[in-house]
Amino acid sequence: MTPSLPQHDTDELRGARARVLAAAKSQFAWTHSHVYESQGSTQTLSGLPLLVVDAEHPFPSTQNPTAVQVFDIVETINGLLGLLVINVADLVDVGAVRTERPTPPPHATASPPAGRLAALRERIGDTVDAVRDRVHEVVHHVELAEHAVALWRRLTELRHSLDALLDRLEGVLGAGELPPPNLLGELAIAANDTVGRIFRLIVDGDAFPDVLEHAGLRGPASSLEQYGRQFQTFPVPNVAGNGMSDALFARMRVAGPNPLLITRVVGALPEHFPVDPVRFEALTRQTLADAIAAGRAYVVDYAALADVVTSDQPAGQKYSCAPLALFVLDATRKHLRPIAIQLGQQPGPTVPVFYCDEGATWELAKLHVQSADGNYHELISHLGLTHLLIEPFVIATHRNLAPHHPLFRLLLPHFQGTLFINWSAVVSLIAPGGGVDQLLAGTIESDWGVVGTAFGSLDFDAHMLPAALAARGVDDPALLPDYPYRDDAVLLWGAMDGWVREYLSLYYADDAAVADDTELQAWVADLVAREGGCVGGFGEPGPAGLPAIVTRDYLAKVVTMLMFTASAQHATVNFPQCYVMSYAPAMPLATYAPPPTRVDPELTADAILAHLPPLQMANYQLMLGQLLGSIYFTRLGRYDLQHASSPYFADPRVSAPLRRFQARLAEVERIIADRNLERGPYETLLPSRIPQSINI
Ligand SMILES: [Fe+2]
Repeated sequence: MTPSLPQHDTDELRGARARVLAAAKSQFAWTHSHVYESQGSTQTLSGLPLLVVDAEHPFPSTQNPTAVQVFDIVETINGLLGLLVINVADLVDVGAVRTERPTPPPHATASPPAGRLAALRERIGDTVDAVRDRVHEVVHHVELAEHAVALWRRLTELRHSLDALLDRLEGVLGAGELPPPNLLGELAIAANDTVGRIFRLIVDGDAFPDVLEHAGLRGPASSLEQYGRQFQTFPVPNVAGNGMSDALFARMRVAGPNPLLITRVVGALPEHFPVDPVRFEALTRQTLADAIAAGRAYVVDYAALADVVTSDQPAGQKYSCAPLALFVLDATRKHLRPIAIQLGQQPGPTVPVFYCDEGATWELAKLHVQSADGNYHELISHLGLTHLLIEPFVIATHRNLAPHHPLFRLLLPHFQGTLFINWSAVVSLIAPGGGVDQLLAGTIESDWGVVGTAFGSLDFDAHMLPAALAARGVDDPALLPDYPYRDDAVLLWGAMDGWVREYLSLYYADDAAVADDTELQAWVADLVAREGGCVGGFGEPGPAGLPAIVTRDYLAKVVTMLMFTASAQHATVNFPQCYVMSYAPAMPLATYAPPPTRVDPELTADAILAHLPPLQMANYQLMLGQLLGSIYFTRLGRYDLQHASSPYFADPRVSAPLRRFQARLAEVERIIADRNLERGPYETLLPSRIPQSINI
């Protein structure tokens, strides 16, 4: 059906639209809490607008993943399982059953005759002890080998369950029909369940902890190399090495997994970050006042983590802090350089400012910032402000816009898979005992609080890329030249803005057409309602002062924001989970020793090991990062690739603007590739690596 606005439809079509939307409203209903019940106790995730899924509201079949998506997921899980099998197989081959022969006791040839009997007794005693040790050693290694085989069998069982999933998929596809969406949902859930079993095998340690320890998959690390060795068949991230240099630490702020916090200092540093101007000048050869006045001083502030309540599950006490860090542009005035770190919001004798010339203590301070960045990334930048920001828009779109509304048609591909992946997260990843609970520093209730506050305090308009960059004072490349995320994101925002404006102009002749669109106005009302989407800072002043959308300009900004968040912004934070965050020492999702409270000149580089996650938690972080960060399903701007109907947009007037959008994306690809020859490579926002929607 040709897209049309409700005001242009006949009465009959308007009636049909109303009936479709009434049905959609019962299928896509709002909830603001999810209750978990386990062994008599109840925990409630609340304060977030979510899709109801219960006996009365089964998960909508249209929102299930596609067959290709399920294949991708199962294939990735299979790779993770293979990684474990190889670790255990290596153990059987080279480690567990091979031992050194005990050194025989020396011959007592020089003993005087009177002492020969005693010497002989001693020799016999030594030999008996050596043989006993040897027997114990052999028994131990036989047991270890038996355990390794038993573990290998359990891994094989899991592999068979994955094979069975693939067989079911092949069977359905081989029948020459499209698989029923519910079956695909069921298979995706089964795959998810297998992932949970793999993770539990490692983290719970009930499956032969001795084997896991020998395989380097469990227990405290004795060297950084042990973390790298866990990768085996996977590429070890470039950030792996002998710790994190100051240059890499600074680069994480502008091209890392969470390049969204760096903020130019205006006027003065926050009062609760008392950097010593004398130390600053000695370290940078410029005064703090001059650096600030010239726009060369920048901070990151993790205040949003100040109320995290730390957990001691599942592998011992975890630690968290809400740091501040100060950076200055280096002598070339191009790259940032870290100067000072404070590991908490309230300075004092045990929360001092650490400086970049303080050796191993400084290395520890950077590690705790990295850990805070990892927690902020997952809870706020990733979960709260991409996955959960888009969720209410998907629900409201189905509830309020008829399927042949031009906006529905445009947005649908950018919402593909989002409700399913979010629902999967609610029932597993962010559930009590799930990945977030186990890996991140806080208790799950505390982490829900951080996510809820991030969403609840969202100012939608202020979160649009141009406004967000300006608010942080980082929108001017003349002041901050090296900011790859900003430079690439701005290109993509511009490309999407052009496409969206051209598309909307086909249907909305003027602002009045926007204001008269009753479905659009109902969409806004549903999104801002407390019993609906709860989206803050959204809408223009409408009739009677209620939020509305009454101009083409604002509508274009909103749609660009949604398209950008669902594609580029999610790619920004999602894919580095694989190629940066899966190496836990670079960004541990929790630290396992408290932040330093003073400079310790005696501290050695190895001190960092006590702060890093134990090897089983690092392995969990590795596998989860690889799983979530390596599935690229669909491609930005390619609406034809994921839909059976071709072209996707039935309206022929769309093809020219769409071609221009695709051509612009190709140009952006070239520009970014060229930039990467000049700057340190930042490939996250190459358009060819950005999916259309949040589906992982
Ligand atoms: Fe994601």
